Amino acid sequence: MHVLLIVDDKEEIQKQLKWGLSKEYKVFAADSVARALELFREHEPKVMTLDLGLPPDEDGSTEGFRCLEEVMRLAPWTKVIVLTGHEERENALKAIRMGAYDYYTKPVNLDELRIILNRAFHLAVIEEENRQLHSALSAEGKEMQGIFGHSPSMLEIFKTIRKVSSSDVPVLILGESGTGKEMVAAAIHGNSPRRSAPFIPINCSAIPETLLESELFGHEKGAFTGAYGRVQGKFESAQGGTLFLDEIGEMPLSLQVKVLRFIQEKVIQRVGGRENIEVDARIISATNTNIKEAIKDGKFREDLFYRIGVIIIELPPLRERGNDIIFLANLFLRRFGEMHNKRARRFSAAALRQLEAHSWPGNVRELENRVKRAVIMAETSIIEPADLDFAGQDRSAANNSEKPPSTLTLREARDRLDKEMILAALEQHQGNILKASELLGVSRPTLYDLMKKHGFQHS
Ligand SMILES: Nc1ncnc2c1ncn2[C@@H]1O[C@H](COP(=O)(O)OP(=O)(O)OP(=O)(O)O)[C@@H](O)[C@H]1O
Ligand SMILES: [Mg+2]
Repeated sequence: MHVLLIVDDKEEIQKQLKWGLSKEYKVFAADSVARALELFREHEPKVMTLDLGLPPDEDGSTEGFRCLEEVMRLAPWTKVIVLTGHEERENALKAIRMGAYDYYTKPVNLDELRIILNRAFHLAVIEEENRQLHSALSAEGKEMQGIFGHSPSMLEIFKTIRKVSSSDVPVLILGESGTGKEMVAAAIHGNSPRRSAPFIPINCSAIPETLLESELFGHEKGAFTGAYGRVQGKFESAQGGTLFLDEIGEMPLSLQVKVLRFIQEKVIQRVGGRENIEVDARIISATNTNIKEAIKDGKFREDLFYRIGVIIIELPPLRERGNDIIFLANLFLRRFGEMHNKRARRFSAAALRQLEAHSWPGNVRELENRVKRAVIMAETSIIEPADLDFAGQDRSAANNSEKPPSTLTLREARDRLDKEMILAALEQHQGNILKASELLGVSRPTLYDLMKKHGFQHS
């Protein structure tokens, strides 16, 4: 049944409408702006009626307009029908200009109002379907090799990827952690003539210097203790394809020289070897450190910077991608909802606002993880702010109208705690069930059962 919200401070009108309309609609009534917004957030009605004269300004219209303004800000698609007195035509028109759907002059004739409401709900449903269809359709258009985005900055990135794919110029990708640098590198490779040869990523910051050299360039038998045989490095593995030097800003100076030599001469030497080995590999690099700073500090070679960064792609942080946040959130919601066989279908209006207000230091990866978690945590098909776990964090926390519901039953609270702890244990051990079960102090089969009960997926 559709939810209808009636905002009116006169008890007779509340009663009349409730009595007359509760067969068709689930009716909620509020007599003040505060109560109206509370009910609005909770039930997200598609249609509401609004009396402009609300306390403390019963004889004016300031409260009514305030309510309308707030509703239009929260959910601009809501159909608001303003109920006015005879002399209030001016106000009615002003309300329409502010986004109200229609107005109706009191006294209320239930049959007439019913027709207006009916039409409003009908339209609201069609519009919602339309919005969803639209976002699904445009999702197809705005994607490149699994990278999704609508924002002007991302469309620019797609264009650049297409342009640089056809040639062999070295590309340097800059961006905060989790902005999709590796995805972009893979997309350039995947769009290039090299696509049938390997794409070889290597993280230059995760490996100690001596090991990194042999990882990159390989080594000859006996090159160092433990070098029992000849081993090919990543450069040779990328023969014909693309080598992705991730976190190149962290690469030790001694190795920077060798990469420079490769770019100039297209040859490498294995550790402990003298032979020049020709390698045909395209170099794409990425870093989230400030490389200009590193050059100034003498930690990164300027000549190498110009060689690897013939083209520089700067990935914008997620917080600067506008509607992409909501778009990606919905994308991940669908993706994980299907994977976990969960009913989570949409975000509540309050959750959407939190998604928009968050500063996303971990960018798309953080968004992906938060949605994944929310799909598992959500108690109903609607994701609420509490499921997103922003508690006590950044700007969105200032909005104290979004306290988590305190109406959990004991069972719900237990379930929630179970899920939290399972999730934390699995995350801590990268999904290793045995280790997670040890941490939680339960047997492996018990953990399996609990995961099943709570809708977790195990691979
Ligand atoms: N535009 C996007 N559309 C869909 N998924 C994305 C997008 N950008 C990033 N992701 C997802 O976010 C995660 C992080 O992406 P990626 O590893 O490419 O980021 P990164 O910039 O290399 O991060 P880091 O600096 O931490 O290495 C990946 O799991 C990827 O699936
Ligand atoms: Mg990366």
